[in-house]
Amino acid sequence: MRHQIMNHIIDTKDQSTLEWQPGKQPGQGRFFNQQTGQSYQCIDGIVQMVQAESLEGKNKKFRHLYDQFANSYDVASNIGWAYIGVKESEMRKQCLDCIEFHPQMQLLEVSAGTGANRRVIPDEVHYTGLDLSIGMLKRCQKNLAKWKKHANLFCAAAEELPFASNYFEVVYHYGGLNFFNDPRRSLEEILRVVRPGGQVVVVDETESAAKSVEDFPKLGIFYKDRDTITIPMDLVPGQALNPKCELLFDERLYRISFSKENNS
Ligand SMILES: C[S@@+](CC[C@H](N)C(=O)[O-])C[C@H]1O[C@@H](n2cnc3c(N)ncnc32)[C@H](O)[C@@H]1O
Repeated sequence: MRHQIMNHIIDTKDQSTLEWQPGKQPGQGRFFNQQTGQSYQCIDGIVQMVQAESLEGKNKKFRHLYDQFANSYDVASNIGWAYIGVKESEMRKQCLDCIEFHPQMQLLEVSAGTGANRRVIPDEVHYTGLDLSIGMLKRCQKNLAKWKKHANLFCAAAEELPFASNYFEVVYHYGGLNFFNDPRRSLEEILRVVRPGGQVVVVDETESAAKSVEDFPKLGIFYKDRDTITIPMDLVPGQALNPKCELLFDERLYRISFSKENNS
């Protein structure tokens, strides 16, 4: 755990600011709630804010599925994009091309998965990744070590972000919103944690993209019993400034972006 972010972690149950208590080994320690005595362990560099037993509905289903799929995710994603003639790393750079990175920028990726976007984000950016699946985050840790990249990692739900309000300059999301338990609440949380004047960018697949892959072997289970995907502009919080939607890669992806008013 690095950087000032350690002073901006909250307990989503009572909004208290948590105190960081380092452990004996690097990457170990806990965030402690002095009001309630509750603590959240950091194990091998991943802060565990949520336990599988507490999850319900789609969040329970997708945590389990992504935990199982974590070690195959990178290869599957790579092959999937190659199949439609796009180099995956180029796709990722293009999705991020509306963000002007600068050194020391505080950026949060909600649903960081195996860290594939971290790989194409400049090293100097202070990157925090959050995901619901501990399996994906463990894979992410291995990838980061291989790529020599740094990240602060949190296992938590997008619906309850464990960060103080108005902290991040940019919040980025790719690939999970359509199937969150509560996408509206997640977007509200994202807007809460971005600082005034900050930027939010949310990318996910369109209905036509989902239709084109849902019968692929091993992927079907992710799409089983799903609702038809509609681009969720109606879920963008009313206070969001300049909400905009674009379609990318032959309408396979939508990218919603908005910012937060300077005086909010
Ligand atoms: C398609 S993957 C995308 C991973 C990564 N962003 C990428 O670009 O490769 C979707 C991710 O969303 C995560 N996820 C699903 N529901 C979530 C939730 N409610 N809150 C946070 N993450 C969630 C999954 O664990 C999974 O890692």
